[in-house]
Amino acid sequence: MNWPDNGASAAARQQLAAALAAGRVSEWSDAFATVPRHVFVPRFYRQDAEGAWQTMAWGEPGYLETVYSDAALTTQLDDHGVPTSSSSQPSLMLSMLEALDIDEGHRVFELGTGTGYNLALLSHRLGDTNVTSVDVDPGLIETAARHLQTVGFTPTVAVGDGAKGYPSRAPYDRIIATVGLHMIPQLLLAQASVGAVIVLPLGYGIVRATVTSPGHATGRFLVTPAHFMARRTIGAKPQFEAAGQQSPTDSSVPPADLLGRLKFPASVALPGYGSCSWRDGDGQLEAVGLWTPDGSTAIAHVSGTVRQYGPQRPWDTVEDLAKVFNSEPDRADFLLTVTPTGQTVSYGDRGGPSWSLPATP
Ligand SMILES: C[S@@+](CC[C@H](N)C(=O)[O-])C[C@H]1O[C@@H](n2cnc3c(N)ncnc32)[C@H](O)[C@@H]1O
Repeated sequence: MNWPDNGASAAARQQLAAALAAGRVSEWSDAFATVPRHVFVPRFYRQDAEGAWQTMAWGEPGYLETVYSDAALTTQLDDHGVPTSSSSQPSLMLSMLEALDIDEGHRVFELGTGTGYNLALLSHRLGDTNVTSVDVDPGLIETAARHLQTVGFTPTVAVGDGAKGYPSRAPYDRIIATVGLHMIPQLLLAQASVGAVIVLPLGYGIVRATVTSPGHATGRFLVTPAHFMARRTIGAKPQFEAAGQQSPTDSSVPPADLLGRLKFPASVALPGYGSCSWRDGDGQLEAVGLWTPDGSTAIAHVSGTVRQYGPQRPWDTVEDLAKVFNSEPDRADFLLTVTPTGQTVSYGDRGGPSWSLPATP
């Protein structure tokens, strides 16, 4: 073994595996108890009370407890302090891995290599010759490959847009994405065998779809809430100034509902939306901002007024959703249907509301 380990790190790893399984028998317990997360996350960033990022590294007090806790850990920031990579929350990783329903010999593609920890868990379970992963960031791929090798795995890893898959290793029996998408990318679907299971974050949920025939897939959302960092693309910025100059209209939907009961449905109806909130000195909500990737922007004030700007009127969609969802809906009641001509998410029984997903990821 050529990676640092000691009684404390080994014990912390076992404890995390046991806590994740929570008394159940999980087919992934051995992987979590064996693969050392600390090798893949030798250092991470945490925000202090003022919002400044501080690093914590192997050997420092609290590091081992945190790296083997059920926490998502930010591992890379851009020049503006915006996280660009992270090691996902272990319990969420476990839910997604279990949803993949993996069997011996399956060939798996992962979109979003990041630290390589999830890939190491897959390699432990399936053997590294059966797993392939792509990340858009060359530096991350280089580091992940090195850490994977350190723990004895050499799966196929490559730099690229994971939405395009990795055709030379296709077909895949299982596909998992660890970065947020707006639909199942067609190029990725084309690399899945019939019967393949695809697990990926869509909006504030995770969908599990089965490929029923070439170009067709269907499946429900997991009950688990989730928010993954978005696939890196360039979206328009919110137009708060322009929105603020529009004439106000009345809204009966409390702005807080967008951050609560309507958060998941809005992510299906307004794929890729962003939101923010404004609060007074006592922390009381004053208004929320809502914008879509085309720059359409709404500012909804707690007084019951809303100002909207741009080609879409995103708050009108929120009003429509509020009529359907009196309380936070169960994600498992949402069904994704994929055909070669389009992708839709529908709610409830036949005849319930449905939303078309964008044509690109
Ligand atoms: C939450 S992290 C992945 C976590 C990773 N599976 C792990 O175990 O550490 C999301 C990753 O997706 C990558 N990413 C973002 N856009 C991408 C794209 N278009 N294609 C491939 N990877 C992308 C980011 O660079 C980031 O490393």
